[in-house]
Amino acid sequence: MNIQAVFKDGIMTVKKVICWAFMLFFVVGCSSSQQLHGPRGEVFDRAAVVSAQALASDIGVAVLKKGGNAVDASIAVQFALAVVYPNAGNIGGGGFMLYRGKTGDIAALDFREKAPAAASRDMYLDKAGNPITELSLLGQLASGVPGSVAGMDAAYKRYGSLPWKQLLQPAIDLAEKGFPISERQAEEFNAHKAKFEKYNPRGAAIIRDTPWKAGDIFVQQELASTLMRIAQSGRDGFYRGETADLIVAEMKAGNGLITHQDLQDYEAVWRTPIEGSYKGFRVISMPPPSSGGIALLALLQSLEPYPLKKWGFQSDSTVRAIVEAERRVYADRASYLGDPDFYNVPVAQLTDAKFNQERMRQVSLQKATPSDMVKASIFDGVEPEHTTHFCVVDKDGNAVSLTTTINDAYGSSVWVSGAGFLLNNEMDDFSVKAGSPNLYGLIGGKANAIAPHKRMLSAMTPTILEKDGKLSMVVGTPGGSTIITSVLQSILNVLEFDMTAQESVDAPRFHHQWKPDRVDVEDGAIAEQVRQSLTKDGYSIHKRKPYGRVENIVILPNGKLQTGADRRGDDTAKGY
Ligand code: GLY
Repeated sequence: MNIQAVFKDGIMTVKKVICWAFMLFFVVGCSSSQQLHGPRGEVFDRAAVVSAQALASDIGVAVLKKGGNAVDASIAVQFALAVVYPNAGNIGGGGFMLYRGKTGDIAALDFREKAPAAASRDMYLDKAGNPITELSLLGQLASGVPGSVAGMDAAYKRYGSLPWKQLLQPAIDLAEKGFPISERQAEEFNAHKAKFEKYNPRGAAIIRDTPWKAGDIFVQQELASTLMRIAQSGRDGFYRGETADLIVAEMKAGNGLITHQDLQDYEAVWRTPIEGSYKGFRVISMPPPSSGGIALLALLQSLEPYPLKKWGFQSDSTVRAIVEAERRVYADRASYLGDPDFYNVPVAQLTDAKFNQERMRQVSLQKATPSDMVKASIFDGVEPEHTTHFCVVDKDGNAVSLTTTINDAYGSSVWVSGAGFLLNNEMDDFSVKAGSPNLYGLIGGKANAIAPHKRMLSAMTPTILEKDGKLSMVVGTPGGSTIITSVLQSILNVLEFDMTAQESVDAPRFHHQWKPDRVDVEDGAIAEQVRQSLTKDGYSIHKRKPYGRVENIVILPNGKLQTGADRRGDDTAKGY
């Protein structure tokens, strides 16, 4: 096969297909969805916030304009998203915050949920040892001990500058007075109604007799009261007192395990960020219990020797190289990644550039390697995607990249009765049974088995890039198992394929995760000619609905902030 010739044709076709796909998407998207987001792709002079919801981005910018720093704004955005983006914004879930200060100091905050003390390895298996999927996904038993409020409290104690109450007040106001929901939200609220009714027999603000429609005002009085308790008492307003009592009562109303002790014991943890380089850029990302930082770095290291720029965006060779790297990195993820407090994750080996590049040298780009032939590496001595991301850069150049989640859309579907917030179903991110796929088709083993107090493995990849000692990019996304590859592609789109921040997040994506052994592709992500060539060489290509909502801030050479807010949602960039 004359690969070079195929590449050239491939590039032309891909470009055309992508242009058409963009145009079609915008025409269809704009006509069918009430526009509650602002214009996208704007460049701001001094500071910017990109999040999944315009109101949350506005609140972040207001905090920045009042003199708050990037962490102050992030705290306000996190609480605002818990109100205006119940799909994934939360106080009943967890997340990761990556920070880079204006002087280059970095920090990673882990506020991932934890298994309750009464959790056990086989708690979601039936008598025959088979997973009972509904138990780890829906209802009270699916929830880990929430970490978001402890996370915001820890971030505030280290970096906060404005009064804590001031950061919560906008969220309280939105919950109390309500806000107009978008068409997308109305559709989601209606689509989930039966599930909400089943798991909330005592009612919830989101359940009503008539269908929701765009522009309806969503008021959440109970949530407002919970946020007021947090505003008043910090983390104790959530992990002790009335809120804790309501959570424990909700557990007892179902089959949940979270106790007062679990809540009181929860602590967010400062961890050492994952660091490495890609073509002169310093890459900073989230360490375990996220697999994101390690996997992203391993992928970048694997791909660094390949001439991606010359090959072109989504050309035949580019796709093959990326897919083969993903297959191998995700195989290692399944075996070696878990909570570092419980399992000795071989971080140094997995992020060793020499190791990753050596492995890729054995890989043929002429034929797919069946995933069954790819086993996790052997190291000495070691054994839909519904989350949300936001990026903040303040006027001084402090940056936050924060991904937060209740796992699936609307988490466990359980609203804490009397407290008005959704609980996560993060327990499904554990390996419920070795070798059995979770919600995202990911498999795992001992490293990510359930144990009391353990944190479940995540794919969340809040990431910051630096060039020549200066902030260069702040990026991240929801998307379950696809988070890592979406972040990878968005970075490559800027660094290798000269896209703007907006183009980098809008570009159609593809994904491979070792198992199942297939390449998931969005519409327009792979040209027909490339698809045929890949299929002929053993790749299984699967169409997939749009996934991920990448947010990106790229710092231009003149210091201005170029923003990218994913067209796949109501995502919006604001700034000044
Ligand atoms: N719940 C998705 C993740 O943490 O990767």
